[in-house]
Amino acid sequence: MSEILNVEDARRRARAFLPRGLFEYLDRGTEDEVSLRGSRAVLEAIRLAPQALVDVSQRRQDTSLFGVAQPTPLVIAPTAVAGLMGHDGEVEMAKAAKAHGIPFCVSTQSMTTIERIAEGSGARLWFQLYVWKNRARSMALLDRAMGAGAEALVLTIDTAVSPNREYNKRNGFGIPIQPTLRSTLDVLAHPRWLVNVFARTLLKDGMPVFAHYPDEFRTPIGRTAVGDEISLATDVSWKDVEILRKHWRGRLILKGVLRPADAVKAVEHGVDGIVVSTHGSRNLDCLPHTAQVLPSIVAAAGKRLTILADSGVRRGSDVAKYLALGADGVLTGRAPLYGLAAGGSAGAIRVLEILRAELDTTMALLGLTRLEQLPETLLDPARL
Ligand SMILES: Cc1cc2nc3c(=O)[nH]c(=O)nc-3n(C[C@H](O)[C@H](O)[C@H](O)COP(=O)(O)O)c2cc1C
Repeated sequence: MSEILNVEDARRRARAFLPRGLFEYLDRGTEDEVSLRGSRAVLEAIRLAPQALVDVSQRRQDTSLFGVAQPTPLVIAPTAVAGLMGHDGEVEMAKAAKAHGIPFCVSTQSMTTIERIAEGSGARLWFQLYVWKNRARSMALLDRAMGAGAEALVLTIDTAVSPNREYNKRNGFGIPIQPTLRSTLDVLAHPRWLVNVFARTLLKDGMPVFAHYPDEFRTPIGRTAVGDEISLATDVSWKDVEILRKHWRGRLILKGVLRPADAVKAVEHGVDGIVVSTHGSRNLDCLPHTAQVLPSIVAAAGKRLTILADSGVRRGSDVAKYLALGADGVLTGRAPLYGLAAGGSAGAIRVLEILRAELDTTMALLGLTRLEQLPETLLDPARL
């Protein structure tokens, strides 16, 4: 994996390995991809100004999130269908998290059950919830997640309906999956993926399924009519947060908060943390960027909540920028997925290693030895 020198190298390998339909599902945004394009521009426009002549020989990037120490401020974000990006993808991803001592957030829509991920990796796990119409079934799923040792529940609040991703439909990768001549040729043109991921999964476990769906609804991914009870609830409200707060014994985190007033409401509902997130520019195409709203959210609720940020992280300096804007930790989604597709757990481990090394270099060049000093470097001409 040593030939992979940055996240973009891993991305190129992922593109070569995965069928186009799957790669675009991983890589692209939504509608006209305005948010996706803007995401890099916003992060790139943030500048950090170094302090001169500081002894940086003893640098550390360890931190503590929700009272648990970890060697770096990263968390692997929940991503649906990660199990198809590499063989046994979700277990491999969790192994990468374990190797770096960081949490892996399992998606409701993963292809592997949280029990098997826990057993196969020994990683610290969080569990992400998409609330189903049938709340009792969602609660039963949470009981399983608790039983498997999930430390935190991440309630995703930015996906009331399925977003509009036209490329998935064109690629035959919508729901239902509709194989076309083009998508069949696409898969055949990627024999390494076909053999190493698809055929191996088929032989071992049969057709890939959404593993957390109740038995009677567990049809192969890509089929419709999985059952109305477990379709996305469109009426999720603060009432659900109240119920979840009572039901869930671990940490409760809301993912997809973009307004200070909602962060304050989260505090009032006993929530422990939030993820300021644009869902990686995959859902609503006219959102502000995480970096644009993060400072006002930190100002409104930063002392009373753990504030995590995500979307668009491709370099360790992007992690530094989110921390400089006041985040306590940073989630990364696509970057480790590129690594997973590029080389299984070794590839994901490599990408995380790169992000950590780049964060370390950024700190050294900024004249910092601790993450808490990052906000001092945020370029505000009035403070220079
Ligand atoms: C392929 C893919 C699948 C995703 N699936 C989920 C999901 O099931 N639940 C969720 O809350 N977020 C999901 N996300 C969003 C990520 O958790 C995260 O917010 C986003 O990837 C961060 O942006 P980044 O990819 O630029 O790091 C997904 C992202 C990707 C790339």
